[in-house]
Amino acid sequence: MSSRSSLLPLLYSADIVPTSLPHHTHLIDTYFSSDDLPHPSLDSPIPTLPSDIEHSRTIVLQATQELNDLLQGPRGIRKFPTQHTHLATNLEVAETPLKQILRMGIAHRVFSEPRPGILTHSAASRLIREDEDIRARVGAGVEKLWLAAGRIVDALERWKGRGNTEETGFALAHGEPFYNVPANDSARTARFAKAMSSFTAGLVCALVHLVKGFAWEKLESGGTIVDVGGSTGDAAFALARQYRDRKFKFAVQDLSEVVAGVDADRLAEAKELGVEFQAHDFFEIQPVQGADVYVFRWILHNLPDAYCVRMLRALEPALKKDARVLVMEMVLSPLGALPNDVERKVRAMDLTMLETGNARERELEEWQKLVASSDERFVWRGMRQPEGSRLAVLEWVWDG
Ligand SMILES: C[S@@+](CC[C@H](N)C(=O)[O-])C[C@H]1O[C@@H](n2cnc3c(N)ncnc32)[C@H](O)[C@@H]1O
Repeated sequence: MSSRSSLLPLLYSADIVPTSLPHHTHLIDTYFSSDDLPHPSLDSPIPTLPSDIEHSRTIVLQATQELNDLLQGPRGIRKFPTQHTHLATNLEVAETPLKQILRMGIAHRVFSEPRPGILTHSAASRLIREDEDIRARVGAGVEKLWLAAGRIVDALERWKGRGNTEETGFALAHGEPFYNVPANDSARTARFAKAMSSFTAGLVCALVHLVKGFAWEKLESGGTIVDVGGSTGDAAFALARQYRDRKFKFAVQDLSEVVAGVDADRLAEAKELGVEFQAHDFFEIQPVQGADVYVFRWILHNLPDAYCVRMLRALEPALKKDARVLVMEMVLSPLGALPNDVERKVRAMDLTMLETGNARERELEEWQKLVASSDERFVWRGMRQPEGSRLAVLEWVWDG
């Protein structure tokens, strides 16, 4: 497949489709039109079809799924993390269940089995093995979030969705709230930070959208930017590298366990770029007084409204007049306005927020109301939705 040079030939799968996809869609179309049947829609079931039309339908379904997988590429697929050949012996697990699990992965293009019983990497499984950020994201997803998702309903039955971050599917599945990492579990903290970094590798969450989504060049040279909940500093590093000549000072704040996990190479680069890491709980009074910009990237969607308000109020004592508050978040579109594949991803993230924090994604008006409800001296300035970005940059100015 990879040697093919344009998309059109992808619509012919030599293995399964003897003729072209347009040919089969045309046959289906003609059948529905000539028999005056209602055309396929999501409102009514597909009627029983004559066998030749059913054959065409199968071919179209197979080819479009293959096309979809191809265009997603290995990064869009990653699902089943495991190891290499001789697995059954190494893991001391019976071969049959292992085969069942692996073959499910192979059906999703994770691993491949060129000959019966011989397991090799596919591009997607190799990516999981070789890219530690992706591996962290898959690991956190499979070991933590999948189990949490399975307990959402139990949590709602038990606590009625009252909006407390301790009463979640995650808490039921793992016996502790999502962000309450035990101090001795540095591996889990490091894995989550890497998982967050993995998002920035894809275009929809790339940091270029933060770099270009605000007029940083208008800040005075030497100005101060605080990234609240900034993890291991990816956003600050991206800005600092881009605006090296402006000599901005950056404070990256996160929980003490996260800051303690920043490695020596990063610390050295941070020093050179003017980035300082600070352990700071964002529900406590903001320690950096008078900064020019306070950035909250992907922070508020983790929190129910009352917690966001508490966090924003803890910021207030530090704010100078005209300080900017940037919130980089998804702005929900009305249901059905997005292409369905994007809508599914957006709603999946929304449910992840529910299962981990009784939180949610928000529409523009909800963002505006939320910040205004914490203090009306946060004055709304507007929003930028960078092209290709899943996250928007929402801006308020402090009029205190
Ligand atoms: C969804 S991640 C976003 C990280 C980063 N801003 C980004 O855009 O990738 C949320 C971050 O908030 C941090 N966090 C959670 N609770 C916090 C608290 N009470 N005080 C400070 N940081 C916190 C987490 O450790 C994590 O790094």
